[in-house]
Amino acid sequence: MNPIRPNRRSVILTGLALAIAPALPVRAGALAMQVAKDPDCGCCADWVAILQEAGFAVSVEEMDPAALQDRKAAAGIPEAMRSCHTGLIEGYAVEGHVPVRDILRLLDERPEAVGLAVPGMPFGSPGMGPEDQREAYDVFLIRADGSSEVFASYAAA
Ligand code: CU
Ligand code: CU
Repeated sequence: MNPIRPNRRSVILTGLALAIAPALPVRAGALAMQVAKDPDCGCCADWVAILQEAGFAVSVEEMDPAALQDRKAAAGIPEAMRSCHTGLIEGYAVEGHVPVRDILRLLDERPEAVGLAVPGMPFGSPGMGPEDQREAYDVFLIRADGSSEVFASYAAA
């Protein structure tokens, strides 16, 4: 029994276009995400579960709120971009309830950047309640100078 294999296949099917599928065997083995979160945060755990279902190998580090804020600062997340948990993957930060497809796109495009953020905790973002009731939200790309730009937009359901 190997539950990882079908999960990785689902990443291929849902997350990536056929044109870049040949790069995936290398990619799939490297989807290791470290997540820092508050032990009392349930939505963080829900987001982690979504990543795991998509085939990511997630390790979770729980810490108190002050240490978590220090972690965000160290990762280069500006205060206006902050959410609950902070993930680290392949040199990028992933702040808050970022959809899997955007993380995969980040790893595919590999922009010169700190990483991605969904500030706050928009209702209906992954781990934040039903997607069919979601409010509109943006995923931002954070640049090294602390500026940010819209990376992806999700309309209200
Ligand atoms: Cu959250
Ligand atoms: Cu969280």
